[in-house]
Amino acid sequence: TAVKPYANEPFTDFGKQENIDAMQAAIAKVKSEFGRSYPLRVGGRKIETEAKITSINPGNVDEVIGFVSKASQEIAEEAMQAALLAFETWKKVPARERAEYLFKAASLMRERKHEFSALMLLESGKNYVEADVDTAEAIDFLEFYAREMIRLSTVNESQPLAKIPGEDNHLSYIPLGVGVIIPPWNFPLAICVGMTAAAVVSGNAVLLKPASTTPVIAHKFVALMEEVGLPAGVINYIPGSGAEVGDYLTTHPKTRFISFTGSKEVGLHINKLAADTVPGQIWIKRVIAEMGGKDGIVVDETADLDAAASAIVASAFGFQGQKCSAGSRAIIVESVYDEVAERVVKLTEQLRIGLPEHNFASGPVIDNVSYARILDYIEIGKAEGTLLTGGSKAEGNGYYIQPTVFGDVGGKARIMQEEIFGPVLALAKAKDWQDAIAMYNDTEFGLTGSYFSSDEDRIAEALDTVHCGNLYINRKCTGALVGVHPFGGFNMSGTDSKAGGHDYLLLFTQAKLMSRKA
Ligand code: NAD
Ligand code: ALA
Repeated sequence: TAVKPYANEPFTDFGKQENIDAMQAAIAKVKSEFGRSYPLRVGGRKIETEAKITSINPGNVDEVIGFVSKASQEIAEEAMQAALLAFETWKKVPARERAEYLFKAASLMRERKHEFSALMLLESGKNYVEADVDTAEAIDFLEFYAREMIRLSTVNESQPLAKIPGEDNHLSYIPLGVGVIIPPWNFPLAICVGMTAAAVVSGNAVLLKPASTTPVIAHKFVALMEEVGLPAGVINYIPGSGAEVGDYLTTHPKTRFISFTGSKEVGLHINKLAADTVPGQIWIKRVIAEMGGKDGIVVDETADLDAAASAIVASAFGFQGQKCSAGSRAIIVESVYDEVAERVVKLTEQLRIGLPEHNFASGPVIDNVSYARILDYIEIGKAEGTLLTGGSKAEGNGYYIQPTVFGDVGGKARIMQEEIFGPVLALAKAKDWQDAIAMYNDTEFGLTGSYFSSDEDRIAEALDTVHCGNLYINRKCTGALVGVHPFGGFNMSGTDSKAGGHDYLLLFTQAKLMSRKA
């Protein structure tokens, strides 16, 4: 049967009471399941371990979402053997059949959308919209990569070959082998699903090590893949310590690739470890690393200043600034700086802080480590700029921090250069629009950016010179859509991949040319 053309999953309209009611019912259901234990899943076996990861609600730290078994190096080795075995049969399953598992999973996730969003909301601290968008993105990844695999496997569609007389030539994209999938916690469903689905639909078997703060939502996805009948051992779920299990698998001779999304520090560490060859290893490991950002918004004096201020606030404080795409810097031309700064502060002060389950605009940050780090950066900011609003922790039985804005920050300040990953925004003044673009580009990262202007010549120049993987004009720098805005950055933001783009599955495959004399 023909596959329908790809379309993004619509977002839920929480302006409608019925949708709020549905989300609240889903939250109540998830809460009734709090405190359960979740096993590892290795080659179809469920393994309970003594050691557990306790996943808590960052918005109310007395609530335990669940206790998740924790893999040791021995279990990681078992998982590797299970994946190697599964790979031998999975790689022979036709691409269309592999895609069908993703289509089925997308359809079930769509039916249970609020259940996934509610769990994510309680485990990561997203509000209704942020959680709903995350689930929609996960559905999009399943739908998009399934179609991509079908396209790649269709002769002559992915890479038409020139014809010569006397030969039949064919190019086929075959899988790599066993890969390690290491997602972050900040899109705990979408990125986990996207990275895993891309690898698996390409014919690989994987070891999925979820982030330790969001292992329960990752388990829900793995259980869904089991429910749709994905053969045992294709996805092995092995939460555990990054340093212990992560390093063990990164240096394993049978690991063919590592797909990582997370911080620059861990990405560089994995890249370095993976570059070494060990006895028994017969390939160069492929590392796909999608890393951090110091994203920003540039505003010139011709811009719609209201629109710019709204975009700055949405980009800086959506999910408490914990997006790789978060606009943690705004660089504003000096003639309109005061006006924009004033509007930004006003909008920021309207953000109400509270429990995600009550759908406050601002919720908690993810854990005590982030909490301490962000509060440290706020102290650094007090020395580097003028505190305009916020500046301290906020009320609540969780990791709440006030949305914080610093003004008159210099381009070289630490809060203009380092990824904070929290609700902290630095405003900087530029002499003119060219100076503003130069300040934007003065970073080791290059993930997302926005340019606000109404001058077509300047916009043309900005499109050329602003150096980042996802560049937006006159809109916020967060909220990339699968298939519409392929996502990924330059320089220290990663290995230049594009999640949700037509070239993404090539990273999980290798092309085999088969030539036959006619
Ligand atoms: P992190 O680097 O701390 O952790 C990411 C993952 O790596 C986690 O699963 C963690 O357990 C694991 N890990 C830690 N040490 C490891 C090791 N030695 N070996 C293997 N795995 C190890 O990042 P995080 O705090 O989860 O996520 C936030 C970061 O992710 C930010 O820097 C953000 O910008 C980045 N991010 C980037 C993108 C992108 O597309 N470029 C998307 C989302 C998040
Ligand atoms: N897709 C996410 C965004 O663009 C990372 O905000």
